[in-house]
Amino acid sequence: MGLRQAYTLFAPLYDALVGPAFGEARRKSLAHLPPSAGKILISGIGTGLDAPYLPAGPLCVGVDLTAAMLKRARRRASAIDLVQGDAQKLPFGDQSFDHVVLHLILAVVPDPNAALREAARVVQTGGLILIFDKFLRRDQRAPLRRLASPWLGRIATHTDRVFEDMLAGVPSLAVIEDRADRVNGYFRRISLKRLPD
Ligand SMILES: C[S@@+](CC[C@H](N)C(=O)[O-])C[C@H]1O[C@@H](n2cnc3c(N)ncnc32)[C@H](O)[C@@H]1O
Repeated sequence: MGLRQAYTLFAPLYDALVGPAFGEARRKSLAHLPPSAGKILISGIGTGLDAPYLPAGPLCVGVDLTAAMLKRARRRASAIDLVQGDAQKLPFGDQSFDHVVLHLILAVVPDPNAALREAARVVQTGGLILIFDKFLRRDQRAPLRRLASPWLGRIATHTDRVFEDMLAGVPSLAVIEDRADRVNGYFRRISLKRLPD
């Protein structure tokens, strides 16, 4: 089973399983978005659980691989433009968004370096990339998470991703803030700024 099929099966349960746990983290992450932001991309939008925490003004576009997740996002957030697509190969031009949101997607996609590179490509210079996800530290042992990751990664999410490894591949991004969130800092809220080339 691939990720698309897995998330098609999870879709009816996703809000009940994931919704209550992360509301506060979403609110804190999205509080970085200025109300004056012109256009925001949510890459891997899922069922649209970020929608209630977005500022009122900006135009928002959401991309996701799975039609069943997008169907729920459409019900929740009719004002968001929704596109079925791949976060690792975004169907948008360079610098076409003011800010990009990557919540619970870098640990999911097979190639997180590509997903981060694509976010950096489509965001304008000076724009923010807001990340909320679970990451191991490079030297962290976490044997169970490392052992489970190849299996869990095929059907839901990897559990052994190292954010610093992804960031090293995208020199045009600078860390503005990196906060420990849930589970002793396994979950983190990270804000990046797109630097000039
Ligand atoms: C853990 S959910 C996160 C959803 C949402 N961002 C949230 O914070 O609740 C992962 C989402 O990534 C989507 N997904 C998986 N692979 C993808 C890809 N290559 N491109 C875009 N979305 C993808 C899944 O369909 C699912 O909706």
